[in-house]
Amino acid sequence: MTNLFDPNEIRAQFPALMQTHVQTGYGMTEELAVFLDGPGGTQVPQCVVDAMVSYLTQSNANHGGAYTTSLRSDEILDAAHAAMADMLNAASPNEIVFGPNMTTLTLGISRALARELEPGDEIVVTRMDHDANISPWLLAAEDRGATVRWADFDVEDYTLDMVGLHELINERTKIVAVGYSSNALGTVNDVRTIVKWAHEVGALAFIDAVQYAPHGPIDVQALDCDLLAVSPYKFFGPHEGVLYGKYELLDRLQAYKVRPAPKDPPGKYQTGTQNHEGIAGTLAAVNYLAEIGQAYGALYEKHSGDLSNRRLHIHTGMSVLREYDHVLSAALLDELETLPGIRIHGITDRARLQERVPTVSFTWGTRHPREIAEALGKRGIFVWDGNYYALAVTTRLGVEGEGGMVRVGAVHYNTVEEIRQLGEVLRAMV
Ligand SMILES: Cc1ncc(COP(=O)(O)O)c(C=O)c1O
Repeated sequence: MTNLFDPNEIRAQFPALMQTHVQTGYGMTEELAVFLDGPGGTQVPQCVVDAMVSYLTQSNANHGGAYTTSLRSDEILDAAHAAMADMLNAASPNEIVFGPNMTTLTLGISRALARELEPGDEIVVTRMDHDANISPWLLAAEDRGATVRWADFDVEDYTLDMVGLHELINERTKIVAVGYSSNALGTVNDVRTIVKWAHEVGALAFIDAVQYAPHGPIDVQALDCDLLAVSPYKFFGPHEGVLYGKYELLDRLQAYKVRPAPKDPPGKYQTGTQNHEGIAGTLAAVNYLAEIGQAYGALYEKHSGDLSNRRLHIHTGMSVLREYDHVLSAALLDELETLPGIRIHGITDRARLQERVPTVSFTWGTRHPREIAEALGKRGIFVWDGNYYALAVTTRLGVEGEGGMVRVGAVHYNTVEEIRQLGEVLRAMV
């Protein structure tokens, strides 16, 4: 196996990538569709499909029954908790809460946290975040008479105003909610430092790692964050949500739950019957990432010794993908920058690619973002447009009323050739 990650070695594992798109006006040729919509949701490898089919055909049952399929189902659920604990380097599988999506999990935990808020308490949010890491805190503050403090970002540099954010954190701060990486600007934030600042005043740190998860290793113990959320459908799994919480915190908080539900974490936060087949698929997605680590491990030999094997492999796999990210980011910027009048809303300095993920948003003269996305869609190139729920970002940039921005997001199954194709189609629109 080569050291350098090659997407062509894994693409065949993703059946959705084999979908073709008929190009009209070019003699009806059929070409592979180009999925540059990863930040909205990624495609899944065959092993994820197989795990879900296998669950539904062999183990489909409710939780806690006394018969074979229910026992099998519970084994899969336990294995999925362990896999997610490995992926996030959590101290225990009991720190992993499954749910329908990140938004629902965040709204749920924010209700439990709100019970401890008092008038005069403060919550810090940022204008760079997806609204799923803003509105739950606005609502919690509203319910409890607490105050929300907004950290800004630099609209030229597209990085968080760290000095301003630090100044907002004081002895009244109870929660600091921040994104690991922006789903609009692509910026990766220094969340470790922000967690430290929160802890210095006794506040809790909530990290939205949804956008970062497909792009790099996450280590909740190294970050020391109290809560962190990801969505498996953004890292090659099915539509699911996962919340990590430090066990003592999850144990102490009073969950919004029905009476017969478990009293202990994580069960007390997992409302109702879970999407078991989705959880089975998530387990397979984590194992897929570990396999990338196994295959490309030669590049990364330095690891802390106490990681179990799968932890090591996932960490390695995600580090390999993070390196490949820089290739994708550079290719995207190279192509987009050839377009006269384009405005890229994010870091473009090639020396700072480690500060971003290959999620690139742009506006282009007077062309409406939807018009550009539609034109690309007709050519079989799938990108997003609008605000992608990063409402505070598009508002701050003054583009919310103009249709937001076009967002092109690459993940490890995308090739540089696909990005060149994007550039060619865009150039043809000039
Ligand atoms: C950064 C970020 N946070 C949160 C969410 C919400 O995730 P979910 O769809 O799982 O609720 C998204 C989804 O786009 C996102 O990109």
